[in-house]
Amino acid sequence: MRDAAPQTIHLSDYTPPNWWVEAVELDFTLDPKVTRVTSRIRFVRNTQVARGDLHLDGEALTLISASIDGASLSENEYQRTDTALTVPADRLPEDAFTWEAEVQISPAENTALEGLYMSGGMYCTQCEAEGFRKITYYPDRPDVMAPFTVRIDSPMPVLLSNGNPVDRHGHIAEWHDPWPKPAYLFALVAGDLVAYSDHFITRSGRTVALNIWVRRGDEGKTHYAMGALKRAMTWDEEVYAREYDLDVFNIVAVDDFNMGAMENKGLNVFNSKYVLASPETATDRDYELIEGIIAHEYFHNWTGNRITCRDWFQLCLKEGLTVFRDQQFSGDMRGEAVQRIDNVLQLRARQFREDAGPLAHPVRPESFVEINNFYSATVYEKGAEVIGMLKRLVGDDGYDKALDLYFTRHDGEAATIEDWLRVFEDATGRDLSQFKLWYLQAGTPRISVRDDFKNGTYILDITQVTNPTSGQADKHPLVIPVAVGLIGADGEEVVPTRVLELTQTRQSFRFEGLSARPVPSILRGFSAPVILDYTPGFEDRALLLAHDTDPFNKWEAGRSLSRDTLLAMLRDGTPPAAAFLDALTTVVRDDTLDPAFRALVLALPSEHEITQGCVDAGMVPDPTQIHETRKALADRIAGAARDTLEAIYNQMVTAGSYSSDSVPSGKRALRNTALRLLTPLDGPARARAHYDTATNMTDQLAAFACLLDAGDTEVAVRFHDQWQHDRLVLDKWFMLQVAHAKPQDAVKYAKSLSEHIDFDWKNPNRFRSVIGGLTATNPAGFHDPSGAGYAFLADWLLRLDAINPQTAARMSTAFETWRLFDVDRQALIEEQLRRIAGADGLSRDLTEMVGRMMAG
Ligand code: PHE
Ligand code: ZN
Repeated sequence: MRDAAPQTIHLSDYTPPNWWVEAVELDFTLDPKVTRVTSRIRFVRNTQVARGDLHLDGEALTLISASIDGASLSENEYQRTDTALTVPADRLPEDAFTWEAEVQISPAENTALEGLYMSGGMYCTQCEAEGFRKITYYPDRPDVMAPFTVRIDSPMPVLLSNGNPVDRHGHIAEWHDPWPKPAYLFALVAGDLVAYSDHFITRSGRTVALNIWVRRGDEGKTHYAMGALKRAMTWDEEVYAREYDLDVFNIVAVDDFNMGAMENKGLNVFNSKYVLASPETATDRDYELIEGIIAHEYFHNWTGNRITCRDWFQLCLKEGLTVFRDQQFSGDMRGEAVQRIDNVLQLRARQFREDAGPLAHPVRPESFVEINNFYSATVYEKGAEVIGMLKRLVGDDGYDKALDLYFTRHDGEAATIEDWLRVFEDATGRDLSQFKLWYLQAGTPRISVRDDFKNGTYILDITQVTNPTSGQADKHPLVIPVAVGLIGADGEEVVPTRVLELTQTRQSFRFEGLSARPVPSILRGFSAPVILDYTPGFEDRALLLAHDTDPFNKWEAGRSLSRDTLLAMLRDGTPPAAAFLDALTTVVRDDTLDPAFRALVLALPSEHEITQGCVDAGMVPDPTQIHETRKALADRIAGAARDTLEAIYNQMVTAGSYSSDSVPSGKRALRNTALRLLTPLDGPARARAHYDTATNMTDQLAAFACLLDAGDTEVAVRFHDQWQHDRLVLDKWFMLQVAHAKPQDAVKYAKSLSEHIDFDWKNPNRFRSVIGGLTATNPAGFHDPSGAGYAFLADWLLRLDAINPQTAARMSTAFETWRLFDVDRQALIEEQLRRIAGADGLSRDLTEMVGRMMAG
């Protein structure tokens, strides 16, 4: 029996299960082609609902046998489709029974990397969101939680699953996880792995064994991740009073992984890119990401695992909160100001982009076809912003009280956004019914500001509007916390930060007792994920760039000047104003400021940000022209700041052995920015020396990029010779060559790299390096007027979709901005979208994405 066409699932259709699971036992006999899985599941009736059928999910399973309370089931006692097995209620014992089944699966043939699969000779699993159903028949939904006992039979030397080890003899290992969990948190790993081990003593005095498991040869690259794990464990005890709850915590690095990492209970599985690091092979940015992701997955132990989601519509309950927590952690580890700017850059680049296009959806979506398509920037990053706003509105104490209540009230449960908001209401007494709209309404709100000054009173008149998004025409006003400070003409702060609560479409706020008209610093710390339509004159922004006490807005002032400068250059060739170049140079030269901050001030808006800027300003964006103009501005800045940049290059040298801490990595960031700006002016000699003397990957890669820009072809050969044995460094080699190809050559380069002997399209990291290298890091190349970039992406999406739909669907979002461009490009992209949509056997994942992009 075949299932009908892909179905849309609606939040409003949620119903609790008929049967709960009391306990699960799983036995695995591992074999690449024929793995046997035996399940023994104790079901008990859900007495809250009418007695009903037993519904089990199952996909790509060969059923060998099934029984209930020891009596085997014949085929006429259940119904089976491609995706489910149902036993009618009248065939089931009254209140409780034990289901046993034996199935066969084939991990070696599993290229989708979901369920049980093989990577580099090891077995591993990925079950979130709906991968467990590819392992055995089970109610694969997050509200069904149970303790798991797992036996693994395999000659592999290392056999791991969730929870605590119970037994190990011969080829058999047994694990028991006492904490009830949904099936998506199940994990199993078997392989010839080596551990880097340590331990952690919790604040109540329990010792936890910590292991990071890697393939032989990678042992030397695990120290940093281990340190990060221990810092995260300490931080969660200190800041959230959350202790770890098992005897062991295992992390495994795998090379083939669709996402970043996965928080399986007691057995986190990581994309090796986010675990393995050595100074020679990983950049400062890699170190930062490793620390953040290790923390993120660890923090899920409480926000996601102990308290999970009732259904997948509530995904932001765990992801928004866990991103918020990892951002807090990274801010504490690396400096709040720079961290906040980084987060906002990321939010604008990914989430604002999503919210402005056909894929816009609420933080809590109301329907989906394929849940994998909703692990989105909106759910994760806007989800985290919403929590930041909530904290600002109820205050730090209110937030702490609400979280304590959340952890006590919902421990062991599968909760909803309603539950989450209720704890805030109960803990603080605040009515959050209007605030809830942040979870329900898609689109980025725009706020515009008009000001007035009369008789010592300064008035800010603020308006909010959210444009319609696909499927959501009417928008209501949101609660928007707008943090504002006022600066006097002399640069002194006259009113420190005050949080204005915007709740209506239009509202006025008054500041009394001022002696002169101030310059407002609005949306300090980026207090809400909104677009601020307010551009004070040049003088005012230069004042903020020089004097704002809020580091975010100080940076933002420079950013907005850069953006306007670029737009003016694009519109009619207006050259950058000398005063702008001076103001920028002054900040960059200021050595009382953090070097990492100064590097951020020098970073120009991305090509996508300029594209959106053009659209907002009523211009048709031309990707080639945007690319060239951005380069021209960089050259102008370099020319104007030349002495400063040379001094920086000479001074910002980090002495001693490599450390990825924020201070030395900030220095490297600034120094390498100077190198990048100076190279087009002075020629490649400095970059060559930088490359030859580099003792870490951050410096080597920075020089590599400069040399590629300078047209040095020999450096790519040298780089490859040096690093061909290291897959993670090779990913960088692939990506940088595409990123730094001249736009007119980029597709050609990407094509020839995709034919390179080291190109393995089945490995998601490698695929992303080349195909994502083109779409994400060389927009002018991707948008080549010939349409070759679009055809190249479509070809690869179709090919990948047949073996790995999840990653294919994710990569298709390169097309989400298509409506921003000129009609010719739109027609070329539409042609490719239609070609994909019309292909035979397209996955549910890619069908949904392409459909949404064409409809919106
Ligand atoms: N839950 C993972 C995280 O946020 C992400 C993930 C989703 C990984 C789906 C794999 C598959 O940490
Ligand atoms: Zn997560």
